[in-house]
Amino acid sequence: MKILILNGPNLNLLGTREPEIYGTTTLAEIEQDLAAVGAELRVTVECRQTNHEGALVDLIQGARGDAAGIIINAGAYSHTSLAIRDALAAVAIPYAEVHLSNIFAREPERRHSTLAAGARALLCGFGAPGYALALRGLVAALRA
Ligand code: DQA
Repeated sequence: MKILILNGPNLNLLGTREPEIYGTTTLAEIEQDLAAVGAELRVTVECRQTNHEGALVDLIQGARGDAAGIIINAGAYSHTSLAIRDALAAVAIPYAEVHLSNIFAREPERRHSTLAAGARALLCGFGAPGYALALRGLVAALRA
């Protein structure tokens, strides 16, 4: 079973980007953690990051027939992107939405997610460890 981990814009800067909000863990460290948890769960984990909305759409489309599940932190596109929501709906792959910060405790424009209604689960506010928690939850849901 393969799980695709997608990170969107500015998440390549984790570690130094607004650490009071997003913490000091780098994306490379998060991806190492996910690889370790994936090995423990006996699933293949593929991690991709892009700053571009259309590239996220391409990655989601490419997951059809390949990934059993998707974990996505679409960054700021989470609040705006119908194209990413449409791509996730089109491929019909179960997905979990992740945010490092608790988006519902932030500015009003961050309190809505275009992706949430179609998600199997939404996990936000646990910082970097949230990705591995979401991976465990999504794999358990897929195996149930
Ligand atoms: C984020 C929250 C978004 O509002 C923001 O634009 C991000 C990161 C998070 O992980 O908390 O880029 O998705």
